[in-house]
Amino acid sequence: MASAAPESDIEHVLLTEQQLDSRLTAIAAQIDADYAGCDLLLVGVLKGAVMVMADLSRRITHPVTMDWMAVSSYGSGTKSSGVVRILKDLDSDLHGRHVLVVEDIIDSGLTLSWLVANLRSRGAASVEIAAMLRKPDAAKVEVDVRYVGFDIPNEFVVGYGLDYDEHYRNLPYVGTLKSSVYSS
Ligand code: IMP
Ligand code: MG
Repeated sequence: MASAAPESDIEHVLLTEQQLDSRLTAIAAQIDADYAGCDLLLVGVLKGAVMVMADLSRRITHPVTMDWMAVSSYGSGTKSSGVVRILKDLDSDLHGRHVLVVEDIIDSGLTLSWLVANLRSRGAASVEIAAMLRKPDAAKVEVDVRYVGFDIPNEFVVGYGLDYDEHYRNLPYVGTLKSSVYSS
C-alpha cells in the first residue's frame, strides 16, 4: 500500500526533475523544427501522459491543438495485458491532420502499436509518437517512435505521471519503488 509520504516509498530516483526538464526542452525544439508550417494535433494518452503533455506542449512555440484519449491495457498490477480498450475517445476528426501521440512510457509497446494503427485508420495525414520513457528490453512489438526522452532499464517505475495502483503520479521525478510497497 502507498504510505502517507510517497517519497519514502521510493527506492531510487532514476531521472530527476532537471533531467526530465532539459530533455523535454530539446524534444520541443525538434518538434518545432519538424512540424514548421503544419497544423499539429497533440494527442495525450490519459492518465500517464498528463505531465509530459503539460510540460512538452508549453515548450513548443509552434501553434498546436490538443486532444485526449484514454485506453486501458493495465489493471492495477505491473504487467501489460496486451488487451486495449478505448475508455475515452478523441473529440477531434483526424482527417488530414498531423497527429503526434504523447505518451508517458513504452513498455511492451502493445498499447502504442495498437493505438497508432487505430489513429492511422481514421485518415490522419501522419501519426508519430513522442514518449518520455522507453524500456527497450521489455519490447514485445516494434514501435517506431519519433521522439524518445530516455531509454530506461526494464524495471517498474513511478512518478511524473506514472502510477502504481493510481498512486505516485504527482512525484516530479521518475523512480523505482521499494519492494515493501508491492508486498504490503
Ligand atoms: P505497454 O502496452 O506495455 O507498452 O504499456 C503501456 C502503458 O503501461 C503505459 O502507458 C503505462 O500506463 C503502463 N506502464 C508500463 N510500464 C510502466 C511502469 O514502469 N510504470 C507505470 N506504468 C507503466
Ligand atoms: Mg500510459
